[in-house]
Amino acid sequence: MDRKLDELLYALMQNMMIAVSGEKLARDLGVSHSTLVRWVDKLRAAGIEIRGELFTGYRLVRLPDVLLPQLIRPRLRTRFVGRALYHFYDVDSTNLFAARLFTHNRKIPEGTVILAESQTAGRGRLGRTWHSEREAGIYFSMVLFPKAPPSLAPLFTMATAVAMHNAVERYTGLDVDIKWPNDLLIGRRKFCGILSEIQAEVDLVKTLIIGVGVNVNHETLPEDIRDRGISLRIASGRIQSRTEILLEFFEEFENIYMGFERKGPAGIIEQWTRFSSFANGRKIEIHDGVRKIAGVTRGLNPLGALRVEQKGGHIEEVYSGDVVAWE
Ligand code: BTN
Repeated sequence: MDRKLDELLYALMQNMMIAVSGEKLARDLGVSHSTLVRWVDKLRAAGIEIRGELFTGYRLVRLPDVLLPQLIRPRLRTRFVGRALYHFYDVDSTNLFAARLFTHNRKIPEGTVILAESQTAGRGRLGRTWHSEREAGIYFSMVLFPKAPPSLAPLFTMATAVAMHNAVERYTGLDVDIKWPNDLLIGRRKFCGILSEIQAEVDLVKTLIIGVGVNVNHETLPEDIRDRGISLRIASGRIQSRTEILLEFFEEFENIYMGFERKGPAGIIEQWTRFSSFANGRKIEIHDGVRKIAGVTRGLNPLGALRVEQKGGHIEEVYSGDVVAWE
């Protein structure tokens, strides 16, 4: 359904300065006038300002910042990431939608991306929610079929963090840090989180869904996350283009992913270690779901686990968890 709304919005964008008659729009889109009126209402409900002028037709009041596949597709610099695109104005969660694609037994190409302008049930790690304000952030999921055992799945999440780190630094000029395992920070505040979900057999990942949420143009954040969170707009003092960041990310991620297929995990580990101030010599406390592990970081092992030197010199390799305190 949202594909039709995209077509209508794209048609209106082609004629920014003039009103287009409802009759012509309906004819071009191959629908009845009453369907067109319904679609205009849906776009309006999604926050797009459309003026309806009697006798002349419809006109956009301002150019909306929407991640329209029609604008993204011609600019893709990738072979497979983002080549199949789904775009929603509202969805519960792009990760959930991606998972539902597989229940219909359809052939889903690798690199399929699901994008949303807003999510009603955006999900975070460890059962948390993800604040998904309309048009302010980038909320998307990627579908991958890596030829790798489930033990290597966390590396793809780290690859995603590295790719977003590179994309945001290159495009905004901001200084980005990666907090283990895959939160992106500016200073001590988080602007991007990643939620990966896998379906696997004992020795092979069948499907990997990587969900990414980036705070881009939020002017403020909800009170409960304001002291820990930040947006690129707050950090840089200016509005940033979600489309440009996404295009950079797709290209970066595809390169790193193809590097993995050719040469294995070493490249991901090397880049993550280079870009994260948490990799070495950092005093931290991790909660792994069961217990707290405190110590000083000593790099990653070849599977991406964080080596933490505890009091007495014992090195613990931590595979998952949350850094709850750091100096
Ligand atoms: C985290 O807790 O840090 C992970 C947040 C991941 C949020 C993204 S937004 C797009 C995708 N869909 C979801 O429901 N969650 C992820």
